[in-house]
Amino acid sequence: MDRRGAPVDVVGVGRTFALGDGEVVALRGFDMHVPAGGFTALIGPSGCGKSTALRLVAGLDTPDEGTIDSGGSSPDEMRRHQRIGVAFQDPSLLPWRTVSTNIRLALELVGRRHDTEAVDELVELVGLQDFEKARPSQLSGGMRQRVAIARSLVTDPDLLLLDEPFGALDALTRQQLNDELQRIWTARGTTTILVTHSIPEAVYVADEVLVMSPRPGRVVARHTIGFERPRTRELLLTDRFHAEVEAVSASLHRSEGQVVQLDTDGSDGQVAQLDADPG
Ligand SMILES: Nc1ncnc2c1ncn2[C@@H]1O[C@H](COP(=O)(O)OP(=O)(O)OP(=O)(O)O)[C@@H](O)[C@H]1O
Ligand SMILES: [Mg+2]
Repeated sequence: MDRRGAPVDVVGVGRTFALGDGEVVALRGFDMHVPAGGFTALIGPSGCGKSTALRLVAGLDTPDEGTIDSGGSSPDEMRRHQRIGVAFQDPSLLPWRTVSTNIRLALELVGRRHDTEAVDELVELVGLQDFEKARPSQLSGGMRQRVAIARSLVTDPDLLLLDEPFGALDALTRQQLNDELQRIWTARGTTTILVTHSIPEAVYVADEVLVMSPRPGRVVARHTIGFERPRTRELLLTDRFHAEVEAVSASLHRSEGQVVQLDTDGSDGQVAQLDADPG
């Protein structure tokens, strides 16, 4: 698989929800650019609009203002042509179906012929080759998440959207899945956006980490992560990794203090561009 994913350009997006007699402004002036084949992580305080942003990019909701474009296609077009794969925190597998038939479901839903080879390949990619016939109740939480990731990839999407897919897992399983996610991303070149609450996870897997302000959410800092690939667990023990985690953590704390003007790169934008030491 040498094809590269679709780029994502989000410009000036706003989304307001009605709540009781009032309203909640979830996003305002939200900008995000993810290049084709890029891996972006989105972090920010709870309720800042991360899931809202992902749902808008997925074409599951529409913005009140601003534009979202993927190389000339709207999110709705991307979704209708099955070019987007989605995996959220709850893997929501069908309990009566096996690993293989849960993965195949994504193909059935879009009326595609059963492609046994593609399903087998994915089962192997996520390391579940001995469990094709197992049902969700016979799997661990981490294995269920792997099924959800395989299912999100089976339509061979150009864009993969992950909303805290590993949130409920223990640290070791989570690290294993991060390694697998990196391997899958390297093998497939699918543009990936990962929402996570874990700064080390974001820094470990992504090319770029975007930090959001509290609601109304928008991007207030951008960290380019230059660590070489493939990234291995040794990286986790290095000073440069810790320094990068500290830097993102500092941005997040500043964002929570609602400080709008961060250390800018000298441009007139309000987004700080912070580059990791690539060496
Ligand atoms: N369908 C909806 N109707 C009304 N309000 C909504 C809806 N979806 C989201 N919101 C509101 O928008 C805001 C942002 O929610 P969102 O789920 O995007 O936050 P989040 O950043 O994903 O938070 P968390 O980290 O806790 O998952 C919240 O205040 C939420 O109450
Ligand atoms: Mg959320």
